[in-house]
Amino acid sequence: RPLSACPALSWHRLLSTACPTQPHHHTVLGIETSCDDTGLAVVSSDGVVHAATLASQWSVHAPHGGIVPRLAARAHEEHFDRLLAHTLASPRPRVDAVAVTAGPGLAPCLRVGMRKAQDLATLWNVPLIPINHLEAHVLVARLSTSPPALAFPFLSLVVSGGHTLLALVRGIGTFERLGTTLDDAVGEAFDKVARILGLGYGATGGGAALEVLARDGDAQAIPFPVPLQRSARRRAGCDFSFSGLKTAVKYATDTMDLDDRQTAANVAASFQRVAVAHLVQRVGMAADRCQARGMAVPRLVVCGGVARNGYLRRELSQWADAAGTDAVFPVPELCTDNGIMVAWAGVERLVANDFTMPPLPDEVRGTRGPHRDEVPYHPRWPL
Ligand code: KG4
Ligand code: ZN
Repeated sequence: RPLSACPALSWHRLLSTACPTQPHHHTVLGIETSCDDTGLAVVSSDGVVHAATLASQWSVHAPHGGIVPRLAARAHEEHFDRLLAHTLASPRPRVDAVAVTAGPGLAPCLRVGMRKAQDLATLWNVPLIPINHLEAHVLVARLSTSPPALAFPFLSLVVSGGHTLLALVRGIGTFERLGTTLDDAVGEAFDKVARILGLGYGATGGGAALEVLARDGDAQAIPFPVPLQRSARRRAGCDFSFSGLKTAVKYATDTMDLDDRQTAANVAASFQRVAVAHLVQRVGMAADRCQARGMAVPRLVVCGGVARNGYLRRELSQWADAAGTDAVFPVPELCTDNGIMVAWAGVERLVANDFTMPPLPDEVRGTRGPHRDEVPYHPRWPL
């Protein structure tokens, strides 16, 4: 069942029934195809979500145990027109711009979204706004139908299947990167440990299944080491590492009977405890850095697919309480990839009148599509 019907999701409270909105509001169609979700949405600058559709491809990739880029691109092609028709069928104001994820992501998948977006922008004679997928994950925390929106600056922790990033966000497009992963992303670690435990690859990756199993486990059962604790590396800053933890789980479980549910649950809970402890520690170090510069501890925005995890939400909320600040989490359905976050990032850029592709670092230039007349997309576009 590749097409998951969106109106049932809990952000439906943002869906507008009364249209159109005030004429001075900006309205954007957002397109997300960077990985294995095809997401489209129409969102206005007053925070109203007029329509949103999402097709997940997990059933396409499940037999392969991971995402196959070629199949993902084909599935985006197959679903796109139907989703678009569905999205545009709802009552809505005029669309002022088309926003599309231009990177980072899988090249064949980005290309599908960019081409479709370009066609629509040309057809409607409106601007095309290239969106950084990570920025979209972060900015969606500011989407709200009741102003005031979450103010800058804030700390952001992006935890997803492809990325682990801590940044100080000073404004639209003004990210100061404080830490990133030295190896695997945290979601990747959740997915790999889920596979070791024989859990299926579902609509929200293996992480969601691991979280459910962990609820029945003893989180203290196995003392996996918290990553990067040796003093030199600890001092090294706010970077992350998850490959050692994943290897530790692999070695520890080699001699275990994982068919025993309690044993598997203990592994899941112990892994989750340590992975989250690592995130919390790095967030603490980022807050220390801010304080060392004379800033108060900023608010913390936690986003990306792993931010759906309830244990992580509780631990980071507790950290924020103790640090005298707030932890802000988008609703779970807006944490994993979706079209709303891209449309909203487009709204933010349109309102700020800043929607050209920012200058890219040397190593990223030249990663655009094969044809010179194609709109550039950037599989490795960093924040
Ligand atoms: O943001 P996202 O949809 O895609 C990327 O941009 O990567 O994140 C997907 C990741 C997967 O690794 C998945 O296992 C993880 O989010 N995830 C979770 C949970 N739900 C999704 N990880 C831990 N606990 C969850 N409840
Ligand atoms: Zn994502």
